Amino acid sequence: MSEIDAPFHVPVLLREIAAAAANARCVVDATLGDGGHAASFLAAGAEVLGIDRDPSAIGRARARLGEERIRYLESPYAAPAALEAVARLAPDFILLDLGVSSRQLDETSRGFTFRPGAPLDMRMGGGSSAADLLAAADEAELGRIFAEYGDERRSRRLAREIVRRRDRAPFVTSDDLVNAIRGALGPSTGPGDFARLFQAIRIAVNDELDGLALALPAFRDALRPRGVLAVISYHSGEDRLVKHLFRQWEGGCVCPPRQPICTCSPIRYGRAEPRKPVLPGADESRDNVRARSAKLRTFRRDDHS
Ligand SMILES: C[S@@+](CC[C@H](N)C(=O)[O-])C[C@H]1O[C@@H](n2cnc3c(N)ncnc32)[C@H](O)[C@@H]1O
Repeated sequence: MSEIDAPFHVPVLLREIAAAAANARCVVDATLGDGGHAASFLAAGAEVLGIDRDPSAIGRARARLGEERIRYLESPYAAPAALEAVARLAPDFILLDLGVSSRQLDETSRGFTFRPGAPLDMRMGGGSSAADLLAAADEAELGRIFAEYGDERRSRRLAREIVRRRDRAPFVTSDDLVNAIRGALGPSTGPGDFARLFQAIRIAVNDELDGLALALPAFRDALRPRGVLAVISYHSGEDRLVKHLFRQWEGGCVCPPRQPICTCSPIRYGRAEPRKPVLPGADESRDNVRARSAKLRTFRRDDHS
């Protein structure tokens, strides 16, 4: 779960997705990106709604895929207009391929990278930038972001260091954040740490986990009977959320283990198919560092739910 392990097309997952969507007539690709998955849905004869919050991704996908049997929506997938559009369609397949695209990561000017001199931007669409967040968030909030989204044990120390440094000069480029991380966590910190902690800021800037938590139940409800919701995640927090919700939707109790009485009142909507996540093959993980953290989970709605 880091920038270097970030989203990238993983052949085994591409094949799984194509197989799961093989008979789908109406597909929502809620994270269109460059349109790689959407191209395979179109090739299989489906009608597609492609959603992305990044206007440049929509522009590139449009140039690649054209207008036949595909509509485009530039929006966060969890925005009310997007959820309504998906509900109206009643699709039989919905895909979420989360996080940033390789292209977004590779464009230094987008500021997703810790490469020297990159602006602290990290916005997939509109809203406040990483520099804005680093200027405005209080120490407790910064600590929470690094702990929750970056699994950082010394999150409070890092938050304190950022507040101390920003009182002297605002954070403007990747170097400012890299230097603060080194200052707080020591000179042995390396690319893996920068990747993990930059990713934590990116998740906060784009409100990624809250958007996912809001959209997943709405997408489940939008599906036709026997429809499938497929999610590829690259971050442990995302995968935990998807796994937890899928278990709950199977009618399983998700109350804390020590709680004596069930209060989550589970309702069954369908089942996770397969039960375990699909992972990249060993050779893919070896050859493609970016694929390593990918996990695909799919959920099929029952006939009547
Ligand atoms: C991993 S890439 C998707 C790649 C795509 N599946 C393909 O085949 O090219 C993720 C894309 O989702 C978009 N994205 C991420 N979070 C989003 C959100 N909450 N709403 C809409 N788009 C989002 C990003 O802008 C990015 O273009």
